[in-house]
Amino acid sequence: MSERTKGARVRLGVNIDHVATIRNARGGAYPDPVRAATVALDAGADGVTAHLREDRRHISDADIANLSAMLRARGRPLNLEMAVTSEMLEIALRHRPPAVCLVPERREERTTEGGLDVAGGHNWIAPFAQKLRDGGSRVSLFIGADPQQIEAASRTGAEVIELHTGAFCDAAREGHADEAAALLAALRAGAKQAAGLGLEVHAGHGIDYETVAPVAAIPEVAELNIGHFLVGEAIFVGLAAAVGEMRRRIDAARAGA
Ligand code: PXP
Repeated sequence: MSERTKGARVRLGVNIDHVATIRNARGGAYPDPVRAATVALDAGADGVTAHLREDRRHISDADIANLSAMLRARGRPLNLEMAVTSEMLEIALRHRPPAVCLVPERREERTTEGGLDVAGGHNWIAPFAQKLRDGGSRVSLFIGADPQQIEAASRTGAEVIELHTGAFCDAAREGHADEAAALLAALRAGAKQAAGLGLEVHAGHGIDYETVAPVAAIPEVAELNIGHFLVGEAIFVGLAAAVGEMRRRIDAARAGA
């Protein structure tokens, strides 16, 4: 696996959740996340990520249906982020997205704060992931770069892990250089361990223009999922320009520039 992803182009999944956040602020239909997803694809995104939360604070059930239809027509993948609940399983099996990323979810959190506890929840995550796989979805587990969690993830039969980059990005942005370096080293080691166990490695959360290069340069990373920063930057330069610049930085980092 690592030999296949090393040096290869890193896929970019654009998370359009916060287009729906802006729409929901007024309760209408504008701006439409499907239109944003279309712009992102045209600007260099490989796929689209959307998190259907239990409280539906941004993406709605109708958004998932509409995104699925558009992406299927364009032959591009929807990566559905969801909690490990029976309600979400039923929705995923109805839409059968090409990719599902299982995330922990707490109602009171502002965003996905930590990774899944796969080591503690192996008994129920493994059969849950199997049902999704039987429905035709590739399953990814969103976890921290913790050797025990990575080892547990490989035992669930999931094909992919997504490493949580939030703590690294926060430390780098806040100027805590030593902490950021240690967290980046952990992400590197985690990616290597995971690839050695046969897992495909994705990464995401909190990534912006400044933090994308060191993460994209991790040789085993095959895909990045980026959302909040791109939707924020779209206010200033437009979504196509923001996605295009992110794409450029990812490619430059991978090429060693
Ligand atoms: N990957 C996962 C699993 C996530 O939960 C999120 C946030 O929804 C992202 C990537 C994107 O994070 P951000 O919006 O901070 O770029």
